[in-house]
Amino acid sequence: MARETFLGLDIGTSSVKALLIDADQQVIAEASAALDVSRPHPLWSEQNPEDWVEGVEAAVHTVRRHAPEAFARLAAVGLSGQMHGATFLDADDRPLRPAILWNDGRSFAQCEELTRRVPDFLARAGNLAMPGFTAPKAMWVARHEPAVFAATRRILLPKDYVRLKLSGEAVSEMSDAAGTLWLDIAGRRWDEELIAASGLTRAHMPALVEGSEVSAYLSPEIAASWGLAGRRIPIAGGGGDNAASAVGVGAIEAGEGFVSLGTSGVIFSVTDKYVSLPQRTLHAFCHALPGRWHGMSVMLSAAASLSWAAQLVGRGDKIGSCVDAAEVFGRDAEAVKSAPVFLPYLSGERTPHNDAQATGLFAGLRANHGAEALLFSVLEGVAFSFADGTDVLREAGAAPNVPLLVGGGARSGYWGQMISDVTGLSIDLAAGAEAGAALGAARLGMLAAKAGEERAICARPETQRRFTPDPARAALHAPRLARYRALYKAERATRL
Ligand code: XUL
Repeated sequence: MARETFLGLDIGTSSVKALLIDADQQVIAEASAALDVSRPHPLWSEQNPEDWVEGVEAAVHTVRRHAPEAFARLAAVGLSGQMHGATFLDADDRPLRPAILWNDGRSFAQCEELTRRVPDFLARAGNLAMPGFTAPKAMWVARHEPAVFAATRRILLPKDYVRLKLSGEAVSEMSDAAGTLWLDIAGRRWDEELIAASGLTRAHMPALVEGSEVSAYLSPEIAASWGLAGRRIPIAGGGGDNAASAVGVGAIEAGEGFVSLGTSGVIFSVTDKYVSLPQRTLHAFCHALPGRWHGMSVMLSAAASLSWAAQLVGRGDKIGSCVDAAEVFGRDAEAVKSAPVFLPYLSGERTPHNDAQATGLFAGLRANHGAEALLFSVLEGVAFSFADGTDVLREAGAAPNVPLLVGGGARSGYWGQMISDVTGLSIDLAAGAEAGAALGAARLGMLAAKAGEERAICARPETQRRFTPDPARAALHAPRLARYRALYKAERATRL
């Protein structure tokens, strides 16, 4: 008998992905549509919300073309997306300006202001006010674009704007809402006092569901345009891309987690209670599954650092080929000692510094350094940022136990081993882990459609390879990690 299918839609930063799976989670079709980021001023990072919707339309169109019969058996949709982005909508739900994204650093002054306005801010929000989060972005618009702010009736996160377009309903879910600084994270409900501190009201906020619940249904118009006329297709709450990736790799119980080498770098660990350590920039958020939370360290330029360096040395932005080039450089004692040290703060940094003004840096350059040496340093600098991120999670008592390596950089054994060495974490590499967030979204769709038990749906993929920390290599990098940390302090102290 022909079986039901499930669609995961991931609104990423560099692309929209659509993944169609069957009830056994076999991939039937997948497609992606590229997205551009606009950086009109230093620290700014914006996208046109309509591009997400067009990206979804294009990717869904391709999936339908490849698998028309399977698509016609669609039983549920799940959404995931880049977190924190602020989409300002008018009374007719039209975007009033480009969305301000998670890696936009313009609102640091508003972070101070917000912390001043709410005397118990850290205890209430559970997180440091950081420019990446949504609330300070809204305050920046209130301050610098008052007409836009006055016309704003709703502020939605990226995937929730897509949901609005697909269903007509304004709904968010706990994992993504946790990244706004407007949520009572322990209580999993909006916090009116936090919302008021941004000059907003509860009416500006969408409804809330759990990620695995039904949030809305495809509107009759969208259903018809997708060839599903007359069908009532549920859309799961879904998750912020990190929580959705966790669901995608089966990280659903306390201690399970992942290390993600995407545009941003993330170390994610599930907790069964709310754990918070804001003074160390721990991200303390809800999971996309009821009754669970997670701790997260977020580094802003992980694979993004490598793409940047690769373009610079004329190797395109193919991560694999850059890692191969770095691998040529090797990791023996002499080579490692001679390489420059790189700080990957090209877009400022969240964990562990919360410093939007932090900059990238190569230290120790010599005339004989070529592309390989620079690429090696970039991989190492990103690995060092993961070491800092791991320390923060350890301090919070929330370090993951053998996390899975996911994201675009996950294909590289060389990088994975280096990260294991410098973080001291054993890390598993699994097949198919790159598609984490879209798969997690599809799985949340399955849960919302009650297509099976949670643990069975959220299985952990089979391990292909385990990286275990090598103490000798860790010792080789240790003095360089100390230099890396000192260099950040020096850069900060001498900033003009
Ligand atoms: C998490 C964060 C990033 C984005 C990337 O706090 O800002 O991981 O979700 O899409």
